[in-house]
Amino acid sequence: MTTGDRKAKYPYFEEDTSAEVVNARMGADADPRLKQVMSIIVKHLHAAVKEIEPTHEEWLAAIKFLTDTGHMCNQWRQEFILLSDVLGVSMLVDSINNRRPSGATPNTILGPFYVSGSPRYENGANICLDGKGEPMLASGKVVDIDGKPVQGAQIEVWQTNNEGFYDVQQKGVQPDWNLRGMFTSAHDGSYWFRSVKPRHYPIPNDGPVGKLLGQIGRHPNRAAHMHSIVTAPGYEPVITHIFTPDCQYLSEDAVFGVKHDLIADFEKVEDQAKAQKFGLKAPYWSVNWDFTLAPRKSQEGSTDWINRMVAN
Ligand code: BEZ
Ligand code: FE
Repeated sequence: MTTGDRKAKYPYFEEDTSAEVVNARMGADADPRLKQVMSIIVKHLHAAVKEIEPTHEEWLAAIKFLTDTGHMCNQWRQEFILLSDVLGVSMLVDSINNRRPSGATPNTILGPFYVSGSPRYENGANICLDGKGEPMLASGKVVDIDGKPVQGAQIEVWQTNNEGFYDVQQKGVQPDWNLRGMFTSAHDGSYWFRSVKPRHYPIPNDGPVGKLLGQIGRHPNRAAHMHSIVTAPGYEPVITHIFTPDCQYLSEDAVFGVKHDLIADFEKVEDQAKAQKFGLKAPYWSVNWDFTLAPRKSQEGSTDWINRMVAN
């Protein structure tokens, strides 16, 4: 057998054909989707390595980074998801899985501070349990893409306090369930509640991902936002944010969560009589925000994966 024949029969590793050689090893019985995923990853990974031409030291530094990222993970901290977030991959996966008809409220990432089981409140309740921060009135409607009100929609909201921390990050400092709540839209689709104006805050940056951000000249701040999940029978659930328009980080959100259609108008209200009507003191911020739901297209809604994740 000539060398040429042997090469054709036994594809040993060579720099030029490295990805093809690796991918050819996959067994005929392997799951087809896994095979497709792995072959694409191998193809692009080898292409990246060929373009980068890392030294051994650089390759080891990359392995150490991934090892440190794994070591940072525990029941409360998922550093790999954080890595995916800052690389824009979480938003990309979210966008691919939540393409909506025009006019429907867009999705954004869930974030690590969602906690299921928020307290249920009547419309008008104040979810700020410690009275700290600039008062805010949030009101609006849940409607469908034709503008018709959706009655009985569940609107779950959560946000940081005025220091930029979620309640779960400050156990014993903030009251449990501070700035979280679940509301139900009324017969005309309307909802309203009181809270405080959201402010920007850094994503957890005391681990390898935070260090990497610093090394590549990026800050860890998220633009000021309030999270919400809106669900109603017959409609696609929406996991989304409302952003304040005046935040300095709006165009440089650390996890790329900002979308044009999610930036709200926040009006500063000085009228004391108006404030009293809503159980507030002037000045307060008022944000009027409608959630527009798209009709349900599949049995599985975009929030079902959260329940699976919580269950695991
Ligand atoms: C958040 O908005 O809560 C968040 C999102 C991604 C990473 C960290 C925090
Ligand atoms: Fe957040």
